[in-house]
Amino acid sequence: MVAPATHSAQLAIWPERILHERNPLMSEACLSPKPSRRSDVAPFLAMDVLSAAARLEGEGRTIIHMEVGQPSAPAPQLALTAARAALEHGRLGYTEARGIRSFRERLVRHYRDTYSVEIDESRVVATTGSSAGFNLAFLAAFDAGDRIALTSPGYPAYRNIIRALGLVPVEIEVGAETRWCLTPDLLEAAQKDGPIKGVLVASPANPTGTMMTPQALSELVRYCDGNGIWFISDEIYHGLVYGTEQATALSTSHNAIIINSFSKYYCMTGWRIGWMVLPECLVRPVERIAQSLYISPPELSQIAATAALDATDELELVKAGYAKNRELLLQALPELGFDKLLPLDGAFYVYADTRRFSNDSLAFTKAMLEEAGVAATPGADFDISNGSAYTRFSFAGSNENMVEALTRLKNWLA
Ligand SMILES: Cc1ncc(COP(=O)(O)O)c(C=O)c1O
Repeated sequence: MVAPATHSAQLAIWPERILHERNPLMSEACLSPKPSRRSDVAPFLAMDVLSAAARLEGEGRTIIHMEVGQPSAPAPQLALTAARAALEHGRLGYTEARGIRSFRERLVRHYRDTYSVEIDESRVVATTGSSAGFNLAFLAAFDAGDRIALTSPGYPAYRNIIRALGLVPVEIEVGAETRWCLTPDLLEAAQKDGPIKGVLVASPANPTGTMMTPQALSELVRYCDGNGIWFISDEIYHGLVYGTEQATALSTSHNAIIINSFSKYYCMTGWRIGWMVLPECLVRPVERIAQSLYISPPELSQIAATAALDATDELELVKAGYAKNRELLLQALPELGFDKLLPLDGAFYVYADTRRFSNDSLAFTKAMLEEAGVAATPGADFDISNGSAYTRFSFAGSNENMVEALTRLKNWLA
């Protein structure tokens, strides 16, 4: 049994930063003028773990990174070749705010080939990562004060972006009863406290790795359509599905707002490129806001991403590596005592109930980092109410690193 609380003094980064960051308006270091209330969002703990790990690495330690959901593979060769050619050509400039036409047209083919769904090029908008897509979608679809439903656990940036934009996150607890997914019944219950204007769902999800069945997704989308609620589908982990069927919300409704990215399956986090497929009535509002907020996504990234859509052979090899890691962890983690894992349908995360080791996953992951040199993310990042019972491990790294992490955890927990 680990006694993590005793190690809090050794890792200065987390608790102190969180305490200070939660109260900027009270900070004496900033008398007047003060930061806005809307900027008072929680820090992204996975990034704070990354900083703590970097500090230890600076002191000469080797750390196995399982905290951040970032592929270790480089961008596909086709993307790199296209980017090199573009650089050779010399001039990179602004593009249309919605992105270059060839990029949007290639995405139309992507929907036809992958999902047998027909969309018009005019509904596709290139974005600076899916993160920019959320900003644009929320600004175009909602007014200040609107209530947006999310799952808890869920990706923490959702609630932070929603708050920063003056919207209200309505976090709906999901659990094993619904396979960690939102259902029309849960949504109906949440409506009793006030109208829900939008629902944001990721499937496969972060941190749980669970995926809605095409039928469950379709029912939820239909409920939203029938009740005048915007359905926002974060499909960033599409492509990373292990033996389960994947469906886009577009198969059910062209009113759905689709947000996707080249960061995960396509291994292009640093290129900051993603896309949206919008209902027709939102195209112009999004375009107008995008023109002012971002002008356009980087042209180089649009060119590279267009080529990446043809790199299936290379990317499927990367995915095979994740599948191997997944098998390894599913077998080895229970042997180490991590015996309550969520169903691992997709993405590259294991969300483990770690109460057997500690009721405080923040302290648990700190001790794991400090003593075992394995960086993982505390569940508090994803779930304010119950997250201290869980720890998220990313298996996007190399197989060698997964083997090393398991060895370290075994020795640490012995
Ligand atoms: C569910 C989910 N959506 C969106 C993002 C943000 O990705 P991007 O790099 O496209 O901004 C992440 C990043 O981890 C994520 O997990």
